[in-house]
Amino acid sequence: MTNITAVRKIRLVMGGMGFYISTLMANMVSRRGGLGTVSGVAPELILPILLGRGDANGDCRRALSHFPFPDIAKMVLDAYYIEVGNPEGKKPRGFPFFAVEPSEMASALSICGNFVFVWLAKEGHNNPVAVNYLEKISLPLPTAITGAMLAGVDVIIVGAGIPNQIPDVVSAVNEWREVIYRVPVIGNIGSCTISFDPSKFLGSKPQNIGKPLFFPIVSSNLLAWALKKKLKDRIDGFIVEESTAGGHNAPPRGHKVDSTGEPIYDDADRVDYAKLASLGLPFWIGGSKASPEGLAYALSNGACGIQVGTALALCEESGFKPSIRTEVRRLAFRGELSVKASAKISPTGFPFQVADIDDSLSKVDILTSVPRNCVYGVLRELYEKLDGSIGYRCSAGPIDTFIHCGGHIESTVGSGCLCNGLMQASCLSDMSYPPIVTLGKDAVRIAQALMKNENDIIHVEDVFNYVLS
Ligand SMILES: Cc1cc2nc3c(=O)[nH]c(=O)nc-3n(C[C@H](O)[C@H](O)[C@H](O)COP(=O)(O)O)c2cc1C
Repeated sequence: MTNITAVRKIRLVMGGMGFYISTLMANMVSRRGGLGTVSGVAPELILPILLGRGDANGDCRRALSHFPFPDIAKMVLDAYYIEVGNPEGKKPRGFPFFAVEPSEMASALSICGNFVFVWLAKEGHNNPVAVNYLEKISLPLPTAITGAMLAGVDVIIVGAGIPNQIPDVVSAVNEWREVIYRVPVIGNIGSCTISFDPSKFLGSKPQNIGKPLFFPIVSSNLLAWALKKKLKDRIDGFIVEESTAGGHNAPPRGHKVDSTGEPIYDDADRVDYAKLASLGLPFWIGGSKASPEGLAYALSNGACGIQVGTALALCEESGFKPSIRTEVRRLAFRGELSVKASAKISPTGFPFQVADIDDSLSKVDILTSVPRNCVYGVLRELYEKLDGSIGYRCSAGPIDTFIHCGGHIESTVGSGCLCNGLMQASCLSDMSYPPIVTLGKDAVRIAQALMKNENDIIHVEDVFNYVLS
């Protein structure tokens, strides 16, 4: 297990990129002296998908053979592993949706999925590895963090919300006692608690379960200050995400948008780095910083280094579907790739950067005509039903169902299924659905800095050599 003194020396922190975009590269990035970051978005779906395809190179099964609770690993393998070519004619099994009281299989998949991808990111070297969660996707957090900690994750990074309960989860798992987590519920009750007891579900505490460092993602001095005030020395550092970063962004103050629906940020949204540094914690700055100048800017503002997403996502080793990666690199090199944040598209309610690509959800006609079916259920919100029980709904799901569940029609306008779209943009999907590609605002600059022609490819090594040059 690493300590903060070692992590402070890291100049390049990899952005956690979901669905599976950063996961495969995390090992490589950590070996090079960066902080490799596994995406904590839906490992509970990705593990069974990979097992169902035969786990061709044996990675998932090799990791699972090190899982300290073999009965749980066997349960997952028996349910989801299908040999390549499916010689036994096994019927693929569906994925359980996460719930306030998850099924045994949902919990097992979450623990094992997080264990497997962190274990693989750490395999064969001793450098630190991080995992990145979204506070908005809160139901799996107790089991997900348990799985990641069993694999010895060094840093937990959490964004998209106010992650002030994470240190309690880390302490509970470290002490192997019940984890309690409060999750928001729309309605009068406001919230409910979920719980997970590792000793009841898994068994006795394994040896050597350490305590990872915790870095919340912030985009304002206010959130950094509030977290530090509440959590005191239970925060180890911050990741600052400026508004041009890929993925979800914090909304601007006042939630202003322009005529195209893109959020408008102004001086009031800028982070005051001198003030942030005065909190006395190390930090890294993300959002169009993948360049020697970006690194110099971060260092001169008191940061330990930069966080890099887009440049690594464009690399050959990323989890993007190869055809999509080639196309976005080509468009970016030609200067023809536009990336715009949409205030409406994400069911999370956070602005989301969308690359404008043909045949994808970035096109309004495609977004409005694609079937609204919920296959993965990752972004469903909890709401209070009329009888006081808790229901689940998503503004990107079927409109009738959303309204029947008390949702407002306005929330459905312009929203799109990020679960299906992001899965389809990754190398995992084989369903027919339009993809959605998220990148940061400086994709064009990166492609033009790193590629020699429009068919050139970029490797993780090129990004390191360029940024740290
Ligand atoms: C393809 C892609 C997917 C991303 N997915 C996530 C995510 O799932 N969770 C998250 O907190 N941030 C996500 N991000 C944001 C990155 O972690 C990082 O903050 C950002 O990429 C840094 O800015 P840059 O893109 O300008 O380098 C994503 C970014 C990209 C490019």
